[in-house]
Amino acid sequence: MTPAESLSPRVAEPPRSGRFLLCSCQAGAEGALRQRAAEVFPDSRPGAWRRGAVSFRIPGEPVPEDGGVDIGFALVFARATMHSLGQVAGDDDGGRITEACRLAGGRRYDNVHVWQRDPRAELPGSAIRSALVAAQGLAPTLGEVAEPGTVVLDCLIDSAERWWIGWHRAEDLPSRWPGGVCPGLAQPLPDGTVSRAWLKLDEAIAVFGIPFRPGQRAMELGASPGGACQRLLEAGLEVVGVDPAVVDPRVATAPRFEQWRMRARDVPLRRCAGIDWLVADMNIDPKSTMAALGRIALAPAVRLQGIVATLKLPDWSRAAELPGWLDMFRSFGLEPRARQLSSGGREICVVATRPAVELQPGSAARSRRVSAARPVTPRRARRRPGR
Ligand SMILES: C[S@@+](CC[C@H](N)C(=O)[O-])C[C@H]1O[C@@H](n2cnc3c(N)ncnc32)[C@H](O)[C@@H]1O
Repeated sequence: MTPAESLSPRVAEPPRSGRFLLCSCQAGAEGALRQRAAEVFPDSRPGAWRRGAVSFRIPGEPVPEDGGVDIGFALVFARATMHSLGQVAGDDDGGRITEACRLAGGRRYDNVHVWQRDPRAELPGSAIRSALVAAQGLAPTLGEVAEPGTVVLDCLIDSAERWWIGWHRAEDLPSRWPGGVCPGLAQPLPDGTVSRAWLKLDEAIAVFGIPFRPGQRAMELGASPGGACQRLLEAGLEVVGVDPAVVDPRVATAPRFEQWRMRARDVPLRRCAGIDWLVADMNIDPKSTMAALGRIALAPAVRLQGIVATLKLPDWSRAAELPGWLDMFRSFGLEPRARQLSSGGREICVVATRPAVELQPGSAARSRRVSAARPVTPRRARRRPGR
């Protein structure tokens, strides 16, 4: 440690009265997130919540010095999770920046994430970030995607007049993105991309670290118009797309692609031998998706590496059924992890893999694996000498 670093600790001084966490989520998912938080942290107390943001307190638990909010897979519906430092509500942006820096303390942060609770509001997020980056003495050219292991100052813009300030350590991939939202979401899809499902599978591959290998075989149930199949083909897989609807010719004519124009329940099981990955993205009830997956996954000739399933929720109350669905994946001999992707709609992405299959999330080396359905005990604060 350099003399300057020893004078300027890299992480925030923990609040003494417990961990007060603030999570952002998709609008509408607040209830599902609160329910999930109560399951994951049984001692937690729900705090304030607004469209797209939920807070809760974990009593008596100081903030672990290493950040310790890499719990995205456990909370499922949380996009970004930060340790709250408080709210600022000055007269103007300049006043709020000053107040935000006071809350941030004289500590060193490696990056600044600024995002809006409600993306529909047109607020000057990039100007606020530039001001905070300058106030923190960081390079004006600093990219928004945080490096793994770095400490990030968070500013969640609640409204033009009120911001929430916090911090987190960047660990898994969503925690490296402002607000946990995949940077590709704001940009046009790459040229030639058939549908937004391309981006959804792209995010799932990166966030979960799905180890697709060239030459493996995948079957997608609900394949039309073909964005996800296109992404699988780009990963070098041989792909069967199952859907009664037509697949885009750019995918349909690809050399390693074949379409079976039928419903999932009509797929001949004897033709499923040799499939490594089962992908599902059908706009049907999750119960029907689970039945279709189970029928194939449990067929005698089938030995899957894993399943990548989108469970579309007819309404958010159905999120309460997630633990039961995850148990069904376990009954297929697979270990499930679940997350509400930033590119997804009202749905949950479940990646369930054979135990021998190693997932390699964006920053796997630092990421703490937390099984989706099991409660986790918050880590105890680890104090280092001299802090
Ligand atoms: C959201 S779209 C899929 C998007 C697609 N994954 C992509 O990458 O472009 C849902 C699809 O599910 C299909 N679908 C609905 N019920 C189905 C079933 N029982 N079997 C197969 N496909 C089904 C629909 O025809 C529709 O094309």
